[in-house]
Amino acid sequence: MLLEARDLHVSYGRTQALKGVSLHVEAGEIVTVLGANGAGKSSLLKALQGMVRPASGDVRFKGESITGRSAAWRVGQGLVMVPEGRQIFVSISVHDNLLMGAYTRRDDPSREIEAIYERFPNLAQRRDMPASVLSGGEQQMLAIGRALLARPALMMLDEPSLGLSPLLVKTLFDLIRDLHREGLAILLVEQNTHMALATAHRAYVLELGRLVLQGDAQALASDPRMAAAYLGA
Ligand SMILES: Nc1ncnc2c1ncn2[C@@H]1O[C@H](COP(=O)(O)OP(=O)(O)O)[C@@H](O)[C@H]1O
Ligand SMILES: [Mg+2]
Repeated sequence: MLLEARDLHVSYGRTQALKGVSLHVEAGEIVTVLGANGAGKSSLLKALQGMVRPASGDVRFKGESITGRSAAWRVGQGLVMVPEGRQIFVSISVHDNLLMGAYTRRDDPSREIEAIYERFPNLAQRRDMPASVLSGGEQQMLAIGRALLARPALMMLDEPSLGLSPLLVKTLFDLIRDLHREGLAILLVEQNTHMALATAHRAYVLELGRLVLQGDAQALASDPRMAAAYLGA
């Protein structure tokens, strides 16, 4: 098992964002976490990444408890998040944004940065421009490129399709499939239920901090309980 969360509880003051969530991701899997706004999806990813401290519960990565470890340490181990809203630095260059993805490394990332530019030619053309010139789709590519430079074993993406046009959403999900084919495990938080279920192997559904459904993604795509709540049927 690559990543495992056991009975995670996360609170912000009196708001209980996660009320005992357990999930796992195997090597080679695409797993999606679905749920409405406020369900606790971002809190879950932040707890897994080490950006919020769970009130209780355990996070294990590559067979070891990492619950007390910092976010930077986890990145160094290959547990890498692409946060909600991209969180790129708009006033610095595209290139410097990419360099920040390599901050946990001691070796020279130049060759891997060139590989990122080959994968995303739009970024290559704008490498010396401030990231503010990028479109929403290009900013998402930059955020994913930056995450790739940390050499992830597991990439966690928080609503990457948010605000993208249907064509760019398709490009994004194609990219997620490519990354999976190249050996990455992926934990994908989405509100685009259709695309996420079509892409993932397994899915979890969060509702107000609790998992209410989980299982095979294809089976859930035709599950009437899913249809009622999330597929607009
Ligand atoms: N920093 C915070 N401070 C207080 N409450 C928060 C904070 N972040 C999230 N919450 C609350 O926790 C709950 C879950 O939020 P979140 O994890 O962002 O859900 P989602 O990503 O599914 O929209 C919501 O009720 C939200 O208002
Ligand atoms: Mg969120």
